[in-house]
Amino acid sequence: MRIDIITIFPKMFAPVLNESIIKRAQGKRKVQIYIHNLRDYSTDKHKKIDDRPFGGGAGMVMRPEPIFSAVETLKSKTKDLIPKTKVILLTPQGKTLTQRLAKKLSKYKHLILICGHYEGIDERVRRYLVDEEVSIGDYVLTGGELPAMVLADCLIRLLPGVLGDKNSLNFESFEGNLLEYPQYTRPAEFKGLPVPKELLSGNHKKIEIWRKKEALKRTKQKRPDLLKKGC
Ligand SMILES: C[S@@+](CC[C@H](N)C(=O)[O-])C[C@H]1O[C@@H](n2cnc3c(N)ncnc32)[C@H](O)[C@@H]1O
Repeated sequence: MRIDIITIFPKMFAPVLNESIIKRAQGKRKVQIYIHNLRDYSTDKHKKIDDRPFGGGAGMVMRPEPIFSAVETLKSKTKDLIPKTKVILLTPQGKTLTQRLAKKLSKYKHLILICGHYEGIDERVRRYLVDEEVSIGDYVLTGGELPAMVLADCLIRLLPGVLGDKNSLNFESFEGNLLEYPQYTRPAEFKGLPVPKELLSGNHKKIEIWRKKEALKRTKQKRPDLLKKGC
């Protein structure tokens, strides 16, 4: 997979994308991530990328020209990937990111992520350039950089070969509309608190039954909505 991220704050990405599993995934060529400074696509002599909203009102709006130019340039440089390219705008007005949506997006060969700022982006970008709008939740952040990193992280760990043990994906929260069962590690007793005896039994069938029961119990307690509508 190739991910291109268009942003006015390119320096925000390195500390997150160059660590841990995401770093290793790039090293193993499972994903290539390119960060692009939107200002490089502004033809304005001051590299301006925003302007006042027509009709008045608070704040500034991101101009359409640099964003169209950035996306069109990237698409022309990656023509071989185009049928599998998706242009995504990070916006609180988008479809909420879920594990199901992440799985769908992880099938694309190429994603172009647009990070908004200020009051948002000229509507023509949304209507004529963007294929999908994604929100990371019902709250408003200052910019699309953190949402782009959240989305990239969530998709990359789904790519085949990225996680050491592919079972990690099969038995985690949101699979089969359940939250994951409780996890324990050594010591078997800590401050007088013992690990459930089923997990120490060495009996795989017993462990599996216990985990299923616990996953269902905690989903009912914490997220009963998952059982009703799926995730
Ligand atoms: C301050 S927000 C703009 C919010 C906009 N005025 C509105 O009410 O919908 C600036 C940028 O942050 C990003 N952003 C903020 N919250 C987000 C969220 N929950 N999910 C995805 N992107 C978000 C978007 O890229 C957005 O263009």
